Amino acid sequence: MARITVFDTTLRDGEQSPGATLTAMEKLRMAHEIAGLGVDVIEAGFAASSPEDAASIRGIAAEVRGVVIAALARTTPGDIEAAAEVLEGAERGRIHTFIATSDIHLERKLGISGAECVDRAGEAVTQARSLVDDVEFSAEDATRTDIDFLCEVIGVAVSAGATTINIPDTVGYAVPAEISKMFGTLLVRVPGLADQVLSAHCHDDLGLAVANSLAAIAAGARQVECTVNGIGERAGNAALEEIVMAIHVRADELGHETGVKTERLYRTSRLLAHLTGIEPQPNKAIVGRNAFAHEAGIHQHGVLSDPRTYEIMTPELVGAPGTELVLGKHSGRHGIEARYEALGYTLTREDLDRVTEDLKALAERKKTVLDEDLISILHHGVMEDVREAFRLTSLDVHCGGDVSHASVVIETDNDLRLEASGSGDGPIMAAFAAMESVLDFRVVLDDLTVRSATPGRDALGEVSIHARVDAHTFTGRGAHTDVVHAAAQAYLHAVNKAAAARVLEEAHLESTADQWGV
Ligand code: KIV
Ligand code: ZN
Repeated sequence: MARITVFDTTLRDGEQSPGATLTAMEKLRMAHEIAGLGVDVIEAGFAASSPEDAASIRGIAAEVRGVVIAALARTTPGDIEAAAEVLEGAERGRIHTFIATSDIHLERKLGISGAECVDRAGEAVTQARSLVDDVEFSAEDATRTDIDFLCEVIGVAVSAGATTINIPDTVGYAVPAEISKMFGTLLVRVPGLADQVLSAHCHDDLGLAVANSLAAIAAGARQVECTVNGIGERAGNAALEEIVMAIHVRADELGHETGVKTERLYRTSRLLAHLTGIEPQPNKAIVGRNAFAHEAGIHQHGVLSDPRTYEIMTPELVGAPGTELVLGKHSGRHGIEARYEALGYTLTREDLDRVTEDLKALAERKKTVLDEDLISILHHGVMEDVREAFRLTSLDVHCGGDVSHASVVIETDNDLRLEASGSGDGPIMAAFAAMESVLDFRVVLDDLTVRSATPGRDALGEVSIHARVDAHTFTGRGAHTDVVHAAAQAYLHAVNKAAAARVLEEAHLESTADQWGV
């Protein structure tokens, strides 16, 4: 039985998913969560792509322990130096350098010859090895690359000291039989490759990313690259939870294992969905809300007699919560703490104080408080990662006619009370118009998603928005039994992030002005 290295690229390839922008604080929180999940490598970002990405990798490398932290770099000296620099604080750092190898990429994107590509690959790996011991080389668009040329490039990378060789199916074009053949050929034909780690990185354009990753493992790959919830460019990357559970549930057939704590998969998935506002589709394997639901009577009957009739794994195995009544307004701190413990969360004293208060308030409005409510309450507090410059204290809406009307009261952190009213097409737009009329922020809404955290009429509604303010994109989140109120909270959450960004920008301008004596 081989131990498969799980390389998580949620914060790099996953973050390239449309609309998945995360702040540095959110990435750090997600990196801690992914490390706690038990993956082996976290790819934290692409250092040379922006100063923000560099700062975020540096922060993760300095704080997150017990995993390898990887930084992506093109095969240029500047990129590799930037990656090495941001990894300085890491317990164990990896430089991951890549260059495209397919004809179409060489000719149409890079405009270089095959010989130049081989030289760049060798030089980049040599430079990276002079800076760190752990170097990964990727041949971008490998699956559309001529196999003889691919063997040549990989051979040079191995000779130059690459310790992991990654074969990306960049455009999700390969099918499993091809992957098996390609990985098998590489292992036979490239001298020294069998002594290093061969890795698969599959995209899901044909819905084959997980199948291709498993085919690669069967053919000798010992590392898989994947993202939580399968987020990523276009149709996404191979889903971490699907690969891990396939290896776990079918250990009899596949004969391998990972170090992932399967019972933390659900909470990791939920955190990412909260942070990005991108919900897995309901029928998504392992973490979708219907993944363990049995609708048909015949299935329900079977599951009641023996869950194994229709369940190949239990919800507990992946940490998915039950939907039974758990807590109410008379619950004490001990009961609340114990329920969170059972769900896998150890709360600090401050967290417990806050969730106890929020939970009692929720229980006043909602008869049944479910596990999912608890997770939502916890996240919506923990993720208040910015100072609350503006806080919604009251919201009153009137709708039903052609136009809806809303009145809001907002308190500021310097104790001002702002009152405003506005109208719009529906209550949410009216509430946004009211807030916009009194706040000095122009908010352009790109997306708004409403999700009910639990079943039932009195469910807690979660709203997430993607909005552009001052030419930056921010996500905002809110949770309330009234979705209009939740939307207004989400709006203010995005505005609070924009306010924090303005403060940072002003501080930066001042220090630049000082520097130039302006
Ligand atoms: O899909 C891809 O080719 C990549 C590489 C940069 C590894 O993400
Ligand atoms: Zn990729």
